[in-house]
Amino acid sequence: MSAYDTITVEQSEGVATLTLNRPDKLNALNEHVLIELRAAILTLSHDRGVHALIFTGAGKAFAAGADIAAMSEMSAPTAKAFADAGQAVAEALESAPFPAIAAVNGFALGGGCELAMACDFIHASEKAKFGQPEVNLGVIPGFGGTQRLARRVGLGRARELCYTGDIIGAEEALRIGLVNAVHAPDDLMPKVREVAKKIATKGPLAIAQCKRVIGRGADVPLERASELEAQAFALLFGTTDQREGMRAFLEKRPAKFTGH
Ligand code: COA
Repeated sequence: MSAYDTITVEQSEGVATLTLNRPDKLNALNEHVLIELRAAILTLSHDRGVHALIFTGAGKAFAAGADIAAMSEMSAPTAKAFADAGQAVAEALESAPFPAIAAVNGFALGGGCELAMACDFIHASEKAKFGQPEVNLGVIPGFGGTQRLARRVGLGRARELCYTGDIIGAEEALRIGLVNAVHAPDDLMPKVREVAKKIATKGPLAIAQCKRVIGRGADVPLERASELEAQAFALLFGTTDQREGMRAFLEKRPAKFTGH
């Protein structure tokens, strides 16, 4: 039995799959879902057996946004707490020691698009739809969308999407660099699993540092970011995995990484 009401978590061969599971509400994100998501991501982050995470949704949506029924009752202070809870999920995804891959199977609107963008990268089904339609409801994105969309696709495109509330398809999302790849619906999970499994075979300490440096480096001047990279590079020379990886190459055999 799953420990959660609104999500499911599975693990296999070093890859965890986190699935939003309120398909009758198109996986709309309410406070309970956000609390469960953050708890699950933090639990997986402490599990040394997890080397990659796939984040997806059950049914025809990834997530059709924050729960509008719940938001319609909110005051300014409760809305702030709700935004903080959504942003805490995004931060948990970004600070996890393993890469998170969003497998966007359908609607990724509002908070759904925002949580997909908090993943390291996104693969989409041909049926996927992306957008930040909050202005249609008289509000703006609150789970980091104004910031992460601009960082992913540039200020001009982010402004237009946030101001118009337009919904775009998978091919347009690919064209503007929001997603890395588009797959036929039945191929989405197998293809994403293939990428996740490939990542899971690499040295986990190297992957964790690579994620940290790319993530942190994006928001600081290049000189500081390059210094972060050099420090992380050097740090890895104190690990067993570095010695194993290089020795395995010289001995012409596959490396056996242990995360030490
Ligand atoms: N919050 C709460 N409930 C939502 C929801 C959301 N963001 N998105 C969908 N749902 C619910 C619907 O109310 C409906 O519930 P019901 O069966 O109890 O009436 C159910 O999910 C199915 O949605 P429905 O609208 O019937 O599906 P559809 O295929 O006709 O339309 C969408 C799909 C995504 C176009 C439409 O649901 C939609 O516009 N959702 C809101 C998108 C949005 O504005 N998101 C940003 C929120 S900040």
